[in-house]
Amino acid sequence: MVAEVLAALNPQPGGRYVDGTVGLGGHAAAILRASAPTGWLSGCDQDGDALELAARRLAEFAGRFELRQENFSELGKWVGAGSCDGVLLDLGVSSMQLDHAGRGFSFQQDGPLDMRMNRRQKLTAAELVNTASAEELARIFWELGEERESRRFARAIEHDRQARKFETTAQLAGLIERLAPRHGQRTHPATRVFQALRMAVNDELGALRRGLDAAFGVLKPGGRLAVITFHSLEDRVVKEFGRVGARDYTVPGGVDVPELRQPCAAKLKVLNRKAIQPGAEEVAENPRARSAQLRVFEKI
Ligand SMILES: C[S@@+](CC[C@H](N)C(=O)[O-])C[C@H]1O[C@@H](n2cnc3c(N)ncnc32)[C@H](O)[C@@H]1O
Repeated sequence: MVAEVLAALNPQPGGRYVDGTVGLGGHAAAILRASAPTGWLSGCDQDGDALELAARRLAEFAGRFELRQENFSELGKWVGAGSCDGVLLDLGVSSMQLDHAGRGFSFQQDGPLDMRMNRRQKLTAAELVNTASAEELARIFWELGEERESRRFARAIEHDRQARKFETTAQLAGLIERLAPRHGQRTHPATRVFQALRMAVNDELGALRRGLDAAFGVLKPGGRLAVITFHSLEDRVVKEFGRVGARDYTVPGGVDVPELRQPCAAKLKVLNRKAIQPGAEEVAENPRARSAQLRVFEKI
């Protein structure tokens, strides 16, 4: 959604931008190109492998950007408060992470059951699957994957790992497929379990909540925040962030009782009531983009 992100952030020469999810540098390059000759971009990604590729792709903009291996939830540590004109968060995994079997994100290729975006982190998907209680696994599959068979899958994992620890993506995908045969369905039965484990291993919703606040903190008044999500759980968090920030009242105790509302200044404007979706052409070119949703906020 490069054109849509550029329209949202409207990069200008001299402007300062943050790309909190640099990935392979596609959006970062577009922002640097659009803000030439003097725009500055601070980019981060928690995946060191992605940053190496991004650095090569962005070499032509040398002197106008920095890259850091960091979690965007902490971007207030290296970007000054109120210093930026635009922030982009393009959530989820990159195609590089999904396509590389060694990273362990995909049930379509066999690889180690890893799923860490940041390989300096200790917790892997294998560790979670082999050590969490059946209740904890069921909660993860249900809350982060909306998997209806969460309890049955979790109990089967707990049973099977006593004989042999889970080490590979094929081992886990195979178990789920045996428990819930495909019967011609297009979606692989392990899709939701893999999504849930990935989100848990990388604490994706926690990082998103903290990241939205951090991004907001580094924006100048009038600066814009663009967030691309890939599934409803993330989109719900982003939508709620916009809804609360746009309110001109606070709700004591967290429950919105109209009589108890306390007036306050709204913090942001929601620039698009409905999420922006990719055009048919982009989806045809890149089927993974089909579930992307872009929301844009402006700091007041
Ligand atoms: C969809 S890709 C971004 C693609 C990028 N916009 C591009 O044009 O190539 C998402 C990237 O965000 C990174 N990521 C996800 N959550 C993150 C977080 N909390 N902090 C930093 N990077 C994160 C992933 O490692 C991945 O490289």
